[in-house]
Amino acid sequence: MADEEVGGHSEPLHEKCSIGQIILKFIASVLLVGAAYYLFVGTFNSWTPEAEKDSLSLEKQDELNIRPFKKELGVDKPHLKKDSDVEVCDLSVGEWIPNPAGPAYTNETCNFIEPYQNCLMNGRPDTSYLYWKWKPNGCDLPPFDPLKFLNKMRDKSWAFIGDSIFRNHLQSLICLLSKVGEPYETYHDSTYKTRAWYYPSHNFTLHVIWAPYLVHYETIDNHGNASESITNLHLDILDSKWTSEFNKYDYVVLSGGQWFYKSTIMYENNQVIGCHNCPDMNIIELGVGEPYRKALQLSLNFIATSENKPFVILRTWTPDHFENGEWYNGGICNRTEPFKEGEINGDPTDLIMRSIEIEEFEKAKVIGESNGFKMELLDTYHLSLLRPDGHPGPYRTYHPFDGDKDKKVQNDCLHWCLPGPIDTWNEMLMKMVFNGESTGYALS
Ligand SMILES: *[C@@H]1O[C@H](CO)[C@@H](O)[C@H](O)[C@H]1NC(C)=O
Ligand SMILES: *[C@@H]1O[C@H](CO)[C@@H](O)[C@H](O)[C@H]1NC(C)=O
Ligand SMILES: *[C@@H]1O[C@H](CO)[C@@H](O)[C@H](O)[C@H]1NC(C)=O
Ligand SMILES: *[C@@H]1O[C@H](CO)[C@@H](O)[C@H](O)[C@H]1NC(C)=O
Repeated sequence: MADEEVGGHSEPLHEKCSIGQIILKFIASVLLVGAAYYLFVGTFNSWTPEAEKDSLSLEKQDELNIRPFKKELGVDKPHLKKDSDVEVCDLSVGEWIPNPAGPAYTNETCNFIEPYQNCLMNGRPDTSYLYWKWKPNGCDLPPFDPLKFLNKMRDKSWAFIGDSIFRNHLQSLICLLSKVGEPYETYHDSTYKTRAWYYPSHNFTLHVIWAPYLVHYETIDNHGNASESITNLHLDILDSKWTSEFNKYDYVVLSGGQWFYKSTIMYENNQVIGCHNCPDMNIIELGVGEPYRKALQLSLNFIATSENKPFVILRTWTPDHFENGEWYNGGICNRTEPFKEGEINGDPTDLIMRSIEIEEFEKAKVIGESNGFKMELLDTYHLSLLRPDGHPGPYRTYHPFDGDKDKKVQNDCLHWCLPGPIDTWNEMLMKMVFNGESTGYALS
């Protein structure tokens, strides 16, 4: 649609001019100048209060220490365009606004929703969480356009590299595309954590690759006792699951995540250098920030100097919304509305992890771009933080309270219901992939 609108105003260029036409053209150009002035002034007028509002809420955010880096908030570049017509807009700053149209798919129209995320099927009673739309300040985030996306992806392949949040993310993408085409599965490992789907209509492949630490790890055999499990993490060896076939991919989306919070013993050069959460082992506690930084550095450095030059996207940290406890001791998430700006600060450790991601990404981008890469940050942290209502909670299983309203059930306040807020991540991905192209999409 947008294509036609942008391309549809062509006029014949070679016309003979009569006096009448010249006068008409003169009048037309006066009108045009007037219109341009009106547009400029109009834009300017509406821009100023908007910008003021932004900086106000920014101050508030700084105060609350919600977002540590002012630089990447786009304060001083809200509506500008670069010479190349690439829209400069920080998609990660904005607000959730009501969206009466609702989601692009449901549990009835998409066959690819895993039971754990199928909140509608599982009987979640409230549905208002489906009727919100992310509105970045200073630009729009258009709905996902499956046909346009698939057409661009002919003969291409994507890899989503990380933990189960990517499985969640990829299901959302497949559901958004399902109106136009459905893939079939071409690969899965024995645990179904690493998988691939293929769209024969477009020779397009989607991979999700299980590499929750990005670096190499081994889980110590604990004879099935999860509470005794501890992971050996090699901070100087990348996980070959994703590096071995790196040359195949045209688009790579990667992230670390919650697994860095688990109990680990950390190694470099095959020597123990420390641990996290390993009481009684007499090993130095390293915390989570620096190990995560090392894993990211190693990964991004590998990417930014690799021969294959995919479009590289680093997704930021995913917040969880457990309240009244953690996932293992009865934490719940029963809110039914988004937070407003300022109503939630985010977990302090999560904020550190996100700021490490941004620092490492900025450094890698300098090297990567000088080597001819396109690199983008998919900063979903803050907009996701505002959506405590988007998780399955108890509705990760089918009708969990059937027969017993007071039953104690495990809640999931980390993954996202499908449809749900995570669909926005794909709208952002689409915007990134098309930005700067004269398809009309990027400018709408
Ligand atoms: C979809 O969810 C609705 C409840 O919202 C349920 O009645 C219906 O059976 C579900 N359909 C499928 C195919 O899961
Ligand atoms: C499908 O895409 C791959 C690149 O990803 C290309 O090598 C191959 O030739 C394509 N196959 C067809 C049938 O076009
Ligand atoms: C698992 O390990 C914990 C901690 O060492 C211990 O308290 C518990 O009894 C063990 N459970 C089983 C089933 O062995
Ligand atoms: C959420 O759970 C808490 C604790 O059980 C309860 O006090 C509160 O009323 C619940 N909120 C909603 C919206 O159900």
